Amino acid sequence: MSTTSAANPNGSIVIVGATGHLGRLVVEDLLDSGVDAGRIVATGRNTDKLADLAERGVKVRRLDFDDPETLDGAFSAGDRVLLVSGSDVGQRQRQHQGVIDAAVAAGVAQLAYTSGPKADTTPMILATDHRLTEEGIKASGVPATILRNGWYFENYTDQLGTYLEHGAILNSAGDARISAASRADFAAAAAAVLTGPVGDHVGRVYELGGDTAITLTDLAAAITAATGQTVVSANLPPAEHLAALVGAGVPEAFAGILVDVDQAAAAGALEVEGHALSTLIGRPTTSLADAVAAATTANT
Ligand SMILES: NC(=O)c1ccc[n+]([C@@H]2O[C@H](COP(=O)([O-])OP(=O)(O)OC[C@H]3O[C@@H](n4cnc5c(N)ncnc54)[C@H](OP(=O)(O)O)[C@@H]3O)[C@@H](O)[C@H]2O)c1
Repeated sequence: MSTTSAANPNGSIVIVGATGHLGRLVVEDLLDSGVDAGRIVATGRNTDKLADLAERGVKVRRLDFDDPETLDGAFSAGDRVLLVSGSDVGQRQRQHQGVIDAAVAAGVAQLAYTSGPKADTTPMILATDHRLTEEGIKASGVPATILRNGWYFENYTDQLGTYLEHGAILNSAGDARISAASRADFAAAAAAVLTGPVGDHVGRVYELGGDTAITLTDLAAAITAATGQTVVSANLPPAEHLAALVGAGVPEAFAGILVDVDQAAAAGALEVEGHALSTLIGRPTTSLADAVAAATTANT
């Protein structure tokens, strides 16, 4: 990765994937931190989802990884760009490469990419696209910042209703230590690297995780404490976990990915060392209790 770049202080900050949960939070953070709305470009496949931002002065632009013409002119020299990784697992490297090529051609000052924990070494199937994208970024020479986002609390708390219904968190992660943080924490980190001095962040790979790693037993205990309903961590052998997921209607390929996540987690893939996330955002990361409390409120 190059470490020399010239950010245009009045250049745009372009969010690729602003229609999603994380991208939306980044745009809101940029606005909250006082970035002029006219400098922010929110992009997505369906710009209807961005109409409220357009009303607030944010520039809105259609960008679809699978429609290369939408990348023409998407970026300008000196822009700072956040590429939020896409959701089409297995297709993402190809999709992301189009954005990388467009960023190089435009001469952006910074391309930040939301990767995954230990993307260069992790065995996790889900991370393959991240590893290949990181390699594509490095090979391109674009001035880059890699945000290796750890696991979202929301991956778990969005399933609160299911956990309460069954009184159990079905898993095959054992005593895995998971450095989870909230999406809002990861979004704040992205906003920080897009607005801080470009030279501080270009050429950096940040491993981002919550300040305190949790286990699924901790998660179950926190849910029990917050709701008064007993929930336990039900740790199953991988084959039984897979069968339980498929039996519950999860498509087999996706169920396999979920079991693979737990196996990788059990081997340490989701435990993040250090405090890069809280350092970047200038506050402690969201606690387990607060993440569960937010989900409990939303669930009632
Ligand atoms: N660290 C974790 O725990 C974790 C968990 C889940 C996901 N992730 C990764 O982090 C990313 C951001 O998380 P999130 O919660 O914000 O996910 P999300 O809400 O699903 O957002 C995904 C974004 O990618 C966009 N996208 C997908 N395919 C696209 C295409 N062909 N062209 C242009 N944009 C496309 C989506 O656009 P649409 O609005 O048009 O669909 C959306 O804006 C995910 O996409 C995934 O790669 C990480």
